[in-house]
Amino acid sequence: MLSPIRAGQHTLRNRVIMGSMHTRLETEPDGIAKQIAFYSERARGEAAILVTGGFSPNAEGIFDPEGPRIDDPEEALDLRPICEAVQAEGSLICAQLLHAGRYAKIEGCVAPSPIRAPINRFIPREMTEADILRTIEDFAVAAANALAAGFDGVEIMGSEGYLINEFTVTHTNKRQDDWGGSAANRHRFPVDIVRAVPGARRQPTSKRRCRSR
Ligand SMILES: Cc1cc2nc3c(=O)[nH]c(=O)nc-3n(C[C@H](O)[C@H](O)[C@H](O)COP(=O)(O)O)c2cc1C
Repeated sequence: MLSPIRAGQHTLRNRVIMGSMHTRLETEPDGIAKQIAFYSERARGEAAILVTGGFSPNAEGIFDPEGPRIDDPEEALDLRPICEAVQAEGSLICAQLLHAGRYAKIEGCVAPSPIRAPINRFIPREMTEADILRTIEDFAVAAANALAAGFDGVEIMGSEGYLINEFTVTHTNKRQDDWGGSAANRHRFPVDIVRAVPGARRQPTSKRRCRSR
């Protein structure tokens, strides 16, 4: 567990990864300094990769009105000191990309189908195909913004009932188009996201491809 390992172009100091946990420190005064302190301490604890709490790739995907986003390239650069502090301690840092889907506690939240989550009073709007293609592109842009800000990579959050998970299961995906029904159709959204992010070698599966980068 404690020996180094290569992963792509990176060498990890060991095989320990700190999982994602949203701290809300970014909403506090001196949020960047507080995040530097929080993540640096974990890097000094020698976790090889730290994963940040989830950043939404667009406006509809935020947890709540104060939820962090990484869709603006200029604002993303504000995160650079956090990355540099972690890397100076010998660890890598990945930004988690998390679209909250029907769990977003905001007016205008979206989901594959318009089914309200038991934990949210807002009813999601059913995404059109244009929304889906734009959201795939938003994940790609968010990843590019994170890499430009100095993150070593991104983690794409696909579990716990958030948007990607809402596409993959029939409980929340009642669509009858190319994005619902068969397992291949329900998996098209996450697969296309992974293929669209910078560094991915393959093209999206969807017939109407998202804009190539
Ligand atoms: C306050 C809090 C915030 C969290 N934020 C995220 C998050 O942004 N993304 C994520 O994937 N998981 C998030 N999690 C889930 C944790 O990564 C972890 O999976 C969960 O706490 C279960 O692990 P544990 O049993 O070690 O606590 C969060 C958990 C807590 C308690």
